[in-house]
Amino acid sequence: MVELAVSDVTRLVAAAAEVRSRAWAPYSGFKVGAAVLAEDGRIFSGCNVENASYGLSICAERNAVATAVAAGIERLAGVAVVTDVSPPVAPCGACRQVLAEFGDYPVVLANLAGDRRLSSVGELLPLAFSAADLTTERRP
Ligand code: THU
Repeated sequence: MVELAVSDVTRLVAAAAEVRSRAWAPYSGFKVGAAVLAEDGRIFSGCNVENASYGLSICAERNAVATAVAAGIERLAGVAVVTDVSPPVAPCGACRQVLAEFGDYPVVLANLAGDRRLSSVGELLPLAFSAADLTTERRP
């Protein structure tokens, strides 16, 4: 797995913190910002968007990934998740699976206090279900 350059960590965390400020979280009050890094250096961000019908709420990470995919991105090189809690939180299980769809890459967990923790998609979701599993199904 290719490590992130310090400058990319800085850019990712800044983008995630910036978009976090626009999170729509009137029900939980828990604002999350996420930013993903494409292999060409571009960054795409997303925040959590909650709904009065609670189950329709979408996490920041999945919104960031969707924005990247809509721009034509097929592989990711990094992601940062920013909240305002200490220690910084890791993505939920559903988001780990969505992040794993686009590779095994560094995950930066950060908060507004400046704390950082480095992980990876593979560390957060060992034995992820993947496209390869679909091709190995035994058929009669
Ligand atoms: N949330 C995220 O955006 N990302 C996560 O990985 C965990 C949870 C959001 C969903 C909901 O809007 C709020 O945080 C509280 O669960």
